[in-house]
Amino acid sequence: MIQMAVLGFGTVGSGVVELIDQNQDVIKRTIPEGIFVKHILDLREFPDSPYCDRVTHDYQDILEDEEITVICETMGGKNPAYAFTKAALERGISVCTSNKELVAAHGPELLSIAAKNNCSYLFEASVGGGIPLIRPINACLKQEKITAVYGILNGTTNYIITRMEKAGLSFEASLKEAQEKGYAERNPAADVEGHDACRKIAILSSLICGKTVRYEDIPCEGITGITTTDFSYARAMNMAIKLLGVCRVAEDGSISVRTAPFLVRENHPLHSVQDVFNGVFVHGNMVDDLMFYGRGAGKFPTASAVVSDVIECAKNIGRTVEFVWDNEIVPLSDPMNESYRYFVRVSSAEAAKAGEIFGRLSEIRFEGMPEDEFAFVTPKMTEGEIRKTLNCFVSASKEQRIRLLED
Ligand SMILES: NC(=O)c1ccc[n+]([C@@H]2O[C@H](COP(=O)([O-])OP(=O)(O)OC[C@H]3O[C@@H](n4cnc5c(N)ncnc54)[C@H](OP(=O)(O)O)[C@@H]3O)[C@@H](O)[C@H]2O)c1
Repeated sequence: MIQMAVLGFGTVGSGVVELIDQNQDVIKRTIPEGIFVKHILDLREFPDSPYCDRVTHDYQDILEDEEITVICETMGGKNPAYAFTKAALERGISVCTSNKELVAAHGPELLSIAAKNNCSYLFEASVGGGIPLIRPINACLKQEKITAVYGILNGTTNYIITRMEKAGLSFEASLKEAQEKGYAERNPAADVEGHDACRKIAILSSLICGKTVRYEDIPCEGITGITTTDFSYARAMNMAIKLLGVCRVAEDGSISVRTAPFLVRENHPLHSVQDVFNGVFVHGNMVDDLMFYGRGAGKFPTASAVVSDVIECAKNIGRTVEFVWDNEIVPLSDPMNESYRYFVRVSSAEAAKAGEIFGRLSEIRFEGMPEDEFAFVTPKMTEGEIRKTLNCFVSASKEQRIRLLED
């Protein structure tokens, strides 16, 4: 039997333990000897849990148990998760994680420690929760030149956006609802300011280029500046606003990565990804368009991805499941040179000026729209140009624009 341990008996960790019990018969089709969770590390006691006798508060109990071959790190955060993961890998114990913060910050280093010690560091659950995504990219798409990844990577913000769009709620009201339903944390900054999605697109971008895309280098905008009126304009254009992590690889190999709200056309597969669901659109030069869709979070969907990694480790005891992810840092293209069309709102008093600057514009209108507004989509221009141009308008700041997602 494969003996394993779980670090952090919270939402995901408890899901891992329960899933392994409930689906042991299915797991045995691949791992005939079965998988057993021998230790659970947490800060608290769980007297009412059927697994209470396996709980320990001392990591050494796990590290020094020679029967343990796989650990699931579902504590989250960088510390002590980093030290615990490193110590396990150095002893040849494979680690499976849902912790995107740690993967984005130390992925290549931990992968290389795993490779030196004939074990594996796997992180299927770190992006897209339950959606099989990392393994398809690492295993099934190795022959592809991937030229684009566009992802709705954060279920909390997608829920907030959906409620603003469908129920006409304000950002504040949608956030409150998301918190009441347990989708958003009490401190929602990492989600609504785009940092969580940014870490995830950093991981995906690193995997498709085999080097390190640092999330600190990625321009990141969240959804706090989007209003219900923006959604009405979007509907008038048959588009939806989505918070996307976007990675594009140009023909010359240069890479641009960004996290920001985008307007997505109606016939794009990402348009219909709603509520807490995630969707990731990938374009490869041979396979063409792919779409991955599913629950990006939640106890069992996320645990399912973690356990798929446990099975992969159990199949490869004494070997390393390899990733091409070097610690060489990828210089990203200058974000100011990226070109988009932009949706812009100015006051009607400045409509004539908009026409002079941008040329002939079609006004976007909807019933009940603000009377004193003129809304339009600009021709394609660079970030540098739009910022400079919007400074000419008294009624629009350089932040007041939404990019259009175009293939
Ligand atoms: N929840 C999801 O749907 C989801 C989806 C995808 C990825 N993730 C990622 O998965 C990770 C875990 O998320 P979660 O939602 O399961 O978090 P959680 O419910 O807060 O669980 C974390 C558990 O780890 C325990 N813990 C924290 N520090 C510890 C330490 N030093 N030693 C032992 N135990 C410790 C916590 O104990 P205390 O409660 O006492 O602090 C808690 O029981 C995070 O990286 C998260 O981003 C979560």
